[in-house]
Amino acid sequence: MQILVTGAAGFIGSHVVDGLLENGHRVVAVDNFSDYYNPEFKRQNVASASGNDQYTLIEADITDVLAMRQLFQAHKIQMVFHLAAQAGVRISIKKPLLCQKNNVEGTYLLFELAREFGVQDIVFASSSSVYGNQEKTPFSEDDSVDHPISPYAASKKACELIAYTYHHLYHMNMIGLRFFTVYGERGRPDMSPYLFADAILHDRPITRFGDGSMQRDFTYIDDIVSGVVACTERKLGYEIINLGNAHPVTLNEYIATFERVTGKKAIIEEKPVPLGDVRRTAADVRKAKRLLGWEPTTSLEVGLTKFVHWFKANRM
Ligand SMILES: NC(=O)c1ccc[n+]([C@@H]2O[C@H](COP(=O)([O-])OP(=O)(O)OC[C@H]3O[C@@H](n4cnc5c(N)ncnc54)[C@H](O)[C@@H]3O)[C@@H](O)[C@H]2O)c1
Repeated sequence: MQILVTGAAGFIGSHVVDGLLENGHRVVAVDNFSDYYNPEFKRQNVASASGNDQYTLIEADITDVLAMRQLFQAHKIQMVFHLAAQAGVRISIKKPLLCQKNNVEGTYLLFELAREFGVQDIVFASSSSVYGNQEKTPFSEDDSVDHPISPYAASKKACELIAYTYHHLYHMNMIGLRFFTVYGERGRPDMSPYLFADAILHDRPITRFGDGSMQRDFTYIDDIVSGVVACTERKLGYEIINLGNAHPVTLNEYIATFERVTGKKAIIEEKPVPLGDVRRTAADVRKAKRLLGWEPTTSLEVGLTKFVHWFKANRM
């Protein structure tokens, strides 16, 4: 199958591309190599796929109608994995319109072109952030997501709504995957696994937001990739599915795991929890098991060990 992957040079996108190529698919990859973080890292992310003759990389912005129409005209796309976005809660508070343009407008344009060119199957990245500060855990797909607490979360909920509309009007198969804090090799430099590894390994202080009781359901990249790739075979109508580790840890437990994995004691600086950060995330993954036959298999300890190993080899 020929699959379009957007955000293909990013952390998750580049791994998804590798996974699709390994499974015998042809990939048309698109990314604008945005400078939200070092674009050189994105060049490195695409290096492993670039020698593959089943892989085409197109440097373009998904909000560029002409460039994207040309892409659809030049390549017979059979399915779309839409991962491009302005990721990050904090930048979305500073630059809400940037988030709107990339995440909402970009998604609209992509779905519209998919419709125009007869692509019936789309998988897109949503986020656990849509659950906001809900008290009930674990978070399941039937829970209300009417109270996003950042522009980023609101933009991801918007993507889910737009997808439903396209499913309703044009019977397109839409799977929205709510990823829960993804970490691993090629990880984003704005996220805590990267920031903590960098600080701890260089004997610099890490920032702990709040008293350490905040909880996150950290999910290892290989588990995410197997969940995303599992969607290739599925025509589900419209479904929203959590992909998370289903083993939330407190920030303090997470720091202790980091200390064990690096063999170093973290120097901790406390700061108040930033506005827009949710108190906890915890995934109910029964729907992913039922619909995709998917379950996470990597513990935080094992995943962080692999990540720190990669970090030492590639970022130090
Ligand atoms: N990493 C996580 O923990 C996490 C959690 C939930 C959801 N997500 C979502 O998963 C997806 C991938 O996230 P990631 O962590 O790999 O982020 P990332 O920033 O590494 O990857 C996103 C990629 O999209 C590209 N991009 C951004 N705007 C674009 C545009 N207008 N046109 C073309 N390319 C564009 C960027 O250059 C980048 O390479 C995003 O949709 C993100 O919102 C990520």
